[in-house]
Amino acid sequence: MEPPGGEVRVQFDSNNRRKIMEAFATDWLTMLVRWMHLIFGAAWIGTSFYFNWLNHSFRPPQEEMKGVGGEVWSVHGGEFYRVVKYKVAPEKLPETLHWFKWEAYATWMTGFALLALVYYLGAESYLIDPSVADIGQGTAIGIGLGALVGSWFVYDLLCKSPLGKKPLAFGAVGFALMTAAAWGLCQVFSSRGAYIHVGAMLGTMMAANVFVVIIPNQRIMVDAMLKNEAPDGSLGKAASQRSLHNNYMTLPVLFIMISNHYPITYGHAWNWAILAALALIGGVARHHFNVKHKGRQQPWLLPAAAVAMFALAFVSSPALDKEAAGPPVAFTEVQKVLDQRCKTCHSAKPTFAGMTAPPAGLMYDSPEQVAAQAPRIRTALTTNFMPPGNITNLTQEERELVLRWIKQGADPKATGAAPKGDAH
Ligand code: HEC
Repeated sequence: MEPPGGEVRVQFDSNNRRKIMEAFATDWLTMLVRWMHLIFGAAWIGTSFYFNWLNHSFRPPQEEMKGVGGEVWSVHGGEFYRVVKYKVAPEKLPETLHWFKWEAYATWMTGFALLALVYYLGAESYLIDPSVADIGQGTAIGIGLGALVGSWFVYDLLCKSPLGKKPLAFGAVGFALMTAAAWGLCQVFSSRGAYIHVGAMLGTMMAANVFVVIIPNQRIMVDAMLKNEAPDGSLGKAASQRSLHNNYMTLPVLFIMISNHYPITYGHAWNWAILAALALIGGVARHHFNVKHKGRQQPWLLPAAAVAMFALAFVSSPALDKEAAGPPVAFTEVQKVLDQRCKTCHSAKPTFAGMTAPPAGLMYDSPEQVAAQAPRIRTALTTNFMPPGNITNLTQEERELVLRWIKQGADPKATGAAPKGDAH
């Protein structure tokens, strides 16, 4: 309590002080790494989209040029460009040849640092959900790292197997495996943790494709050319196979990276299936652009993806009618639950160690604030998204109580008495 007019002196014991400063420093570091991850990711995906467009846009050159198989003309920023593509490689290499690899490496490195900072350091809040699987921090991190490394080996073997030569069958098997991984991870991690690991697995494959196959193969080809030998075309083929896979993984990965803002996806009872459906829709949207650049229009692809998005929203929408009914709830009861389980964080002055401002800007200090936020509270509670890692031990009864109050109209003046004249 603040004494009226008096000076308030808050005593921080040294342990509390350390925790607050640590949380502050981690937030700053996370923010910086996240920013960099976005910048590198934009650069990588930008070049990837550009080269992919370029590759599909080559048409026979207007005039014969030795070894040239196609050309593209474009105008951008007031300048005109003409790019030619060699059937295999030019006879002689120029002095400067640009490679594109650091965008990919830097995206992966900052992404991995972010995964470690948020999900491994903060495993108790973000990676582990005792209601899913009661595992320790070490086990959880082990499973996470194992998934990243293991999935790469499986993927790499598949690429080199006969299946690798059949793009459509490969896509189907790859999609089935990704779905299985999403399902499996949802059985051991918090749903957010499971989602981000599927994204990190795909992202790791993409970066490793660049690091282990694409760049080394290009290096061998260039070295051969410098020795005036003919470059091995099969190396180029293997690189372009990986490049194609990366292309189809981009949109699903981007969705997974933003999915953390949407408990309606990862918090859903069918979370793994929703992830699979969105990845498939992303792949179809990507395919639309790929065939369009080649000049082979398939006008139904994009509308099909759009219809699928609406269908997915429809089938995953909250089943309000199926929710349990119950006696009227008084707001005072709701407030008691929020006071104990939420307001340590969601208050103008949070008391949770290290928390200096209400998370997501959400405060439950007044009945009006709570009532105004009811729909979001509902999502947070039905998806088990809040409290993080159930750190404040919200019970199932309390969860249902708050949800019932919201169902009954989220009235901050509710007294718990049955409305008059309504005999139940
Ligand atoms: C330990 C601190 C803590 C406690 C306790 C807590 N929250 Fe949160 N809450 C957070 C943080 C951190 C975020 C932001 C998460 C993010 O966006 O990544 C958040 C975000 C939210 C959001 C916004 C979700 C959105 O739509 O983006 C809602 C709603 C919410 N909490 C509700 C609750 C409710 C209801 C309770 C109590 C049952 C609760 N929280 C308890 C820390 C807490």
